[in-house]
Amino acid sequence: MLTNLLIASLLSMAAPSSSPEIVEGIQGYVPTPEVLESRQRFSDDKFGIFIHWGVYSMLGRGEWVMNTDKIRFSDYSILPGGFYPGNFDAAEWVSAFKAAGARYITITTRHHDGFSMFKSRWSDYNIVDATPFGRDIIKELADECHKQGITINFYYSLLDWCREDYPIGNSGHHSGRDESKANYASYLDFMCNQITELLTNYGPVGCIWFDGDWDHIKKKADGSYPDIDFDWGYGRIYELIHSLQPGCLVGNNHHRRTIPGEDIQLFERDVPGENTAGYSRTDVVSTALPLETCQTINKSWGFDINDHTYKTDQELIRLLVRTAGRNANLLLNVGPQPDGRIPALSLERLAQIGEWLSVNGETIYGTRSTLLKPQPWGVVTEKDNKIFLHVLEKPESGSIVLPLSLKVKSVRSFADGTELNFKRTKSELTVVLPESYDCSTDYIVEITAK
Ligand code: GLC
Repeated sequence: MLTNLLIASLLSMAAPSSSPEIVEGIQGYVPTPEVLESRQRFSDDKFGIFIHWGVYSMLGRGEWVMNTDKIRFSDYSILPGGFYPGNFDAAEWVSAFKAAGARYITITTRHHDGFSMFKSRWSDYNIVDATPFGRDIIKELADECHKQGITINFYYSLLDWCREDYPIGNSGHHSGRDESKANYASYLDFMCNQITELLTNYGPVGCIWFDGDWDHIKKKADGSYPDIDFDWGYGRIYELIHSLQPGCLVGNNHHRRTIPGEDIQLFERDVPGENTAGYSRTDVVSTALPLETCQTINKSWGFDINDHTYKTDQELIRLLVRTAGRNANLLLNVGPQPDGRIPALSLERLAQIGEWLSVNGETIYGTRSTLLKPQPWGVVTEKDNKIFLHVLEKPESGSIVLPLSLKVKSVRSFADGTELNFKRTKSELTVVLPESYDCSTDYIVEITAK
């Protein structure tokens, strides 16, 4: 394996800092062989589609509308009565995502508004019992994913703006709940019961993806995180998941260091190691676990009728490349419309990504990126005896110097196989780029090691 040939000191991601933090989760967690296998498969997959869909899509102002518009639960709960996404077609969705090159789908089974998009015996506030549509879209989607051979993952909100047993945190203050009824033990039982349904009734699930932990984090005045905050009972939740489906991974979008029992480290709106959006800490990038970064295709997660600020095809492809070049997967979001359709512009963008991946997928899928940290000119991915240089900006010198001691068989332009000049010393490999080339999306150099 190429990785073994190369020097460990080139490892680039920031090492976890040693500051004290919450220690909870499954004490002494030892991942099973099934989990280890799932982690590898997950890292190989590289590209997934995130779906934020719920009754909030009817209002067309994103998934936080209940909170931002200060809607009381007694008013918000009118929405399911009119929810009839008649154009929903799981087969169409899954085909479009597969054509985009996605290898997995992560869908919101229940978001912060507390509405379950699946049939649940633990709450009538669900798509089968509370809407005229009456269909379990999670079931239809999971079945279709299994049929078309693509992994299904479930997003599950830890926080809830409707249930009175959920202890109110940083959000959902206007829902009109009676705070005196808060009872976390009861709420935790409810979540465990629903997670049991999700992992029992829908076939194999790739990952349970938690969100909302931050509802009970009070950042310190200096912006740092407290050592101990709310006790979510993660040990119990994670044990349950691993016992129900031994190959199912656990991820938690808590923006902090991973805790025992978690299998993936998640990042929101930034590639690992960057923090332009303010949700990520750059000092806690794991080198031991698979990484995933989620990002929106425009600016919104849930359907926003006014949001036309779509990222361009080029921006999205470069994002995928920059993510792979940080050893991470990209989970790219779409927010379906209330009629059950994926917005047309999202479909157009996905088709373009799919076209690019159908040609260049070899340089992304199944790769890792551990040899060289991101460079001003771009990133590196590697697989077996190949190293791919993804040139995203032209280096002024016209060449790229890699601090790699490597016996080289060939250096080629990936697009057309043209041989490129290179020089090798004991400790460096210099690749001479062609006089003219287009890296406005990604110019890929393929290095094959002997
Ligand atoms: C944030 C948002 C949430 C969204 C999530 C996706 O946590 O609060 O609405 O589901 O990001 O990563």
